[in-house]
Amino acid sequence: MERPLGTTTPRAETPGTPVPEGLPGKIPQHVAIIMDGNGRWATARNLPRLAGHRAGTENLRRIIQACAEFGIRYLTLYAFSTENWGRPEEEVQGLLSIIEDMLGRELNELHRNGVQLRHIGRLEGISPFLQRKVREAIDLTKDNSRLTLNVAFNYGGRDEIVHAVQRMIAEGVPAEAVDEKLLSRYLYTAGTPDPDLIIRTSGELRISNFLIWQAAYSEWFITPVYWPDFGKEELRQALWEFSQRDRRFGRVAPSTGS
Ligand code: IPE
Ligand code: IPE
Ligand code: MG
Repeated sequence: MERPLGTTTPRAETPGTPVPEGLPGKIPQHVAIIMDGNGRWATARNLPRLAGHRAGTENLRRIIQACAEFGIRYLTLYAFSTENWGRPEEEVQGLLSIIEDMLGRELNELHRNGVQLRHIGRLEGISPFLQRKVREAIDLTKDNSRLTLNVAFNYGGRDEIVHAVQRMIAEGVPAEAVDEKLLSRYLYTAGTPDPDLIIRTSGELRISNFLIWQAAYSEWFITPVYWPDFGKEELRQALWEFSQRDRRFGRVAPSTGS
């Protein structure tokens, strides 16, 4: 049923609006997630922040699995931003070692499940050991096609654009050859469709330097749930809401055009 412009999209989180059982009809091809709220999850339980990061990392398995089951083809996870280096040394080091452990533990399972791992962001600044592990994981899984998992690690959207411009200049690309399509090809996400849906957990209403170019026409789903508690049902709710949205890309909705 078409809704006239100006009415609000029915929101699944509105009390009394249950999400229908089963799969929504329209599944986004690419979902990106700002996995936020680990620290507050831990603080609410009188635990150290690193316990929140550990719980958040444990949550990855079930969300990756659920995305594959829902038929999502690309999943991009924001794991560590270029600004996150500004956190206390102990937290940064703890986070890096949790990520390293995770990669060691989960890689074979991801590979068995047909997940292709990619990294977006800069590998410089990360220990040579972790850099090698990341490269090996990318190489091992490069022919998998069930789900492409982009891990945004040491990633910043502004940094990504600066890096793209630097490479274009270094390669001598003439100014008149630069257009949106070409610039996209120099981004870390080259070849990946833009995210259809971006989910942010923990209720913050900001982009925090995530996919700032690619998010131009993404739909947003913000939930107050902290990342370690964001499970398959919450994902299904986000997908259901997405299926109710009218994406117009700046055009006029077909029902109102004449
Ligand atoms: C997200 O959780 C994980 C990273 C940014 C690495 P936070 O650590 O930002 O958790 P809050 O926002 O402080 O609760
Ligand atoms: C965004 O969360 C980065 C990741 C989830 C990795 P932050 O917690 O770093 O963002 P701000 O500081 O609240 O904007
Ligand atoms: Mg945060």
